[in-house]
Amino acid sequence: MKITVVGAGYVGLVTATCFAELGNHVLCVEKIESHLNKLKKGIPHIYEPGLEEMLKKNLEEGRIKFSTDIKEAINFSEVIFICVGTPQSDSGKADLSQVEAVSRQIAEFMDGYKLVIEKSTVPVNTHQWVKKTISRYAASDLDFDVASNPEFLREGSAVFDFMNPDRIVAGVESDRARQIFEELYEPFTKKGHPLLMTSPAAAELIKHSANSFLAMKISYINMIAQLCEKVGVDVNMIAQGIGLDERVGAKFLNAGIGYGGSCFPKDVKAFIKIAEDHGLEFGLLRETEKINANMRRVFLDKVEEILWINKDKHIAVWGLAFKPGTDDIREAPAIDIVGELVKNGANLRLYDPEAAANFKQLFPENENLQYVNDKYSALENADALLIITEWDEFQEADLDRVKKLMKLPIIIDGRNIFPPEKMQGFEYYSMGR
Ligand code: UGA
Repeated sequence: MKITVVGAGYVGLVTATCFAELGNHVLCVEKIESHLNKLKKGIPHIYEPGLEEMLKKNLEEGRIKFSTDIKEAINFSEVIFICVGTPQSDSGKADLSQVEAVSRQIAEFMDGYKLVIEKSTVPVNTHQWVKKTISRYAASDLDFDVASNPEFLREGSAVFDFMNPDRIVAGVESDRARQIFEELYEPFTKKGHPLLMTSPAAAELIKHSANSFLAMKISYINMIAQLCEKVGVDVNMIAQGIGLDERVGAKFLNAGIGYGGSCFPKDVKAFIKIAEDHGLEFGLLRETEKINANMRRVFLDKVEEILWINKDKHIAVWGLAFKPGTDDIREAPAIDIVGELVKNGANLRLYDPEAAANFKQLFPENENLQYVNDKYSALENADALLIITEWDEFQEADLDRVKKLMKLPIIIDGRNIFPPEKMQGFEYYSMGR
């Protein structure tokens, strides 16, 4: 099939590349020239495992193209994915101006039937606005459908998630749209991945409900973790004990310093606002946010309790990205934690395998804050090591070497990456254990 993707951010670029990999012909429009120039050479402007290789291959084989020309893109195919940003506005509401702008461009340039698919995360009933906008601004009365096909990709494993979906959700209103989705996703349904057809409103709501539920699950276990510390129980035992119940499920019960990233914080806030706009108070999600924000404080209090005075202490920090497998630092716990330690006058050595360059833009290097190129260099002469992101390479660290390098063998682990019984010889602290 021929497919147009508008927007080459995380979602758009992964969607475009993976659809090309499945044998489709994809034209992806991106308005940021610097990104576009890199993409044309097969270099993604984001770090996502497996993406660069797949992009290069599909460029070479001629199945994916990039352009700034929106008219060319709209005329290229009858299937148009909207993958533009829906950032948070000051009120917490999603800012839909980019979705609106693309809808108007589609109206202006459409030259035949179009299936316009929202992939960006949008509030319920946004499809009504997209429909209305296209109808209002359309140059002629050509037929079109608007559908919602939310993405459930995790940063750091987005390519894998696209190729191995738990489910595909498509919110459609016509048989024509339904048939296009069936054809588009046939490589998956053929292998048994479920394609759930719903109304567009239900599909939009599924996305916000799913992300908010997962965020709530994380805050729930983090609250239990705090109780565990008070009563001397290991939170991992609780996670296992409840997770084995299939109704609860074992995933997303890792206690620690809470969630960050470009999705959960923004989507939870937007969902609270959506409920409010419909006269409902989503207290459950407000509490989810509150617990999550507090986990950073809990971690910092722990640091202070252990080190007493942070000023002039040499502190190594492992992990700056909001999660492993990405260079993304949006809403990362590391921002608040490093920020507070800087304020306290600590001497910091930071290491992250991918996210250091992004972090440097927020926290430039100075004599009290240095970035190092490998995890061991961060440890020289350190009074303590803080673990903020659970990269595999930290779990695989040579602990004897770690101990030898540090001035004091103190580890404060915000992600519970080591089993406490393996930590003899260290003063080892973690979350809820
Ligand atoms: C999330 C969802 O998992 C995806 O399904 C969704 O498509 C995506 O948002 C989106 O809306 O685009 P993502 O934010 O990339 O994906 O990453 P997650 O793996 O969900 O992690 C989010 C945060 O929760 C991270 O900070 C992670 O460290 C934290 N987390 C996750 C925990 O603290 N504990 C856990 O058990 C799991």
